[in-house]
Amino acid sequence: MTDRRIPTAPLGENGPEVGVQGLGCMGMSFAYGPADADASRAALERALELGVTLYDTADAYGAGENEKFLSPFFKAHRDEVVIATKFALAIPPDDPTRRVIRNDAPYIREAVEASLRRLDVDVIDLYYMHRRDVSVPIEDTVGVMAELVREGKVKQLGLSEVTAAELRAAHAVHPIAAVQSEWSLFSRDIEAQVVPAARELGVTLVPYSPLGRGFLTGSFADAATDLTAGDFRRQQPRYQGANAAANAVLLEPIRAVAEAHSVTPAQIALGWVQQQSRVHGLPVVPIPGTSKPGRVEENAAATAVELTGQELALLEPIAGKVAGDRYADMSFTSAGRE
Ligand SMILES: NC(=O)c1ccc[n+]([C@@H]2O[C@H](COP(=O)([O-])OP(=O)(O)OC[C@H]3O[C@@H](n4cnc5c(N)ncnc54)[C@H](OP(=O)(O)O)[C@@H]3O)[C@@H](O)[C@H]2O)c1
Repeated sequence: MTDRRIPTAPLGENGPEVGVQGLGCMGMSFAYGPADADASRAALERALELGVTLYDTADAYGAGENEKFLSPFFKAHRDEVVIATKFALAIPPDDPTRRVIRNDAPYIREAVEASLRRLDVDVIDLYYMHRRDVSVPIEDTVGVMAELVREGKVKQLGLSEVTAAELRAAHAVHPIAAVQSEWSLFSRDIEAQVVPAARELGVTLVPYSPLGRGFLTGSFADAATDLTAGDFRRQQPRYQGANAAANAVLLEPIRAVAEAHSVTPAQIALGWVQQQSRVHGLPVVPIPGTSKPGRVEENAAATAVELTGQELALLEPIAGKVAGDRYADMSFTSAGRE
């Protein structure tokens, strides 16, 4: 591809502008089997060349390993990148293999210091609450996050997998720049309530897993047989067995539209998410995850894909037919609490 830089979109009501597609960095250290470190570093550099400026990580990705891995890249390009990280998935002292959701003040304060240390930067550009701990009022959690802004430790606030009601309550305490939630041709539950609330409040939507964790690209057909033992997708009901077989059939219209555009199914999946910005009238900055520079190019090129009304109509029924939930425990998602 040429070195055409991707367009930009605002991150929250008062900016800054970021590349209209970000880069999900989780898979470079965590969740989807081993990734090649050199290829991942090349992917980061290539993304920046193409105008991708929002880089997404979390303290939970590899228990801090992902933040540490990204640190040299961020430091080398500090003024060009917007660093997004997250707190809330704590490791209990008695069992390092488990995660518990925590939104309380002492935990947030500990988490932000640890992320700043691992990233080795003075300030986090966008700090998300990764998951909602319903035992803590959201106003209290965002109150602590707002203190971090006042103290200069973080610049903007974000929330992941919150309901519309939680978003409104949080936004009343401190402006929320971004909501990060799963949004793809396979996962459209946020369109009912979260997206309209985000539009009303001037919040940017950051769709995660816009490629359905790779399933929409056809890169695997059944997580149980095609992916390695520790791969997180083996825990997700929709990617195995009878569900996966039924869901593979749903990829046909995506392939047909891809052929008509002479692009890949991944590019149609990303083009569709991007186009939801116009459909719903709010900034949308998807963060496809890849550890490969060639796929960074392919994904960035999808920002130029324009689907016709007829094509959107062809793709419209897919999400309603998906077999199996996106998580084994949906109480961790906004849809599970709405
Ligand atoms: N807030 C949350 O709770 C939450 C949850 C999940 C993810 N996230 C964030 O969102 C980011 C993206 O989500 P995700 O990584 O789960 O899913 P995704 O972006 O839907 O898909 C990533 C998968 O697709 C593959 N892939 C990427 N581009 C491709 C292409 N052009 N062709 C074929 N395969 C391609 C990747 O493999 P390769 O690496 O081999 O290319 C990876 O296995 C994550 O990195 C993370 O930062 C947030």
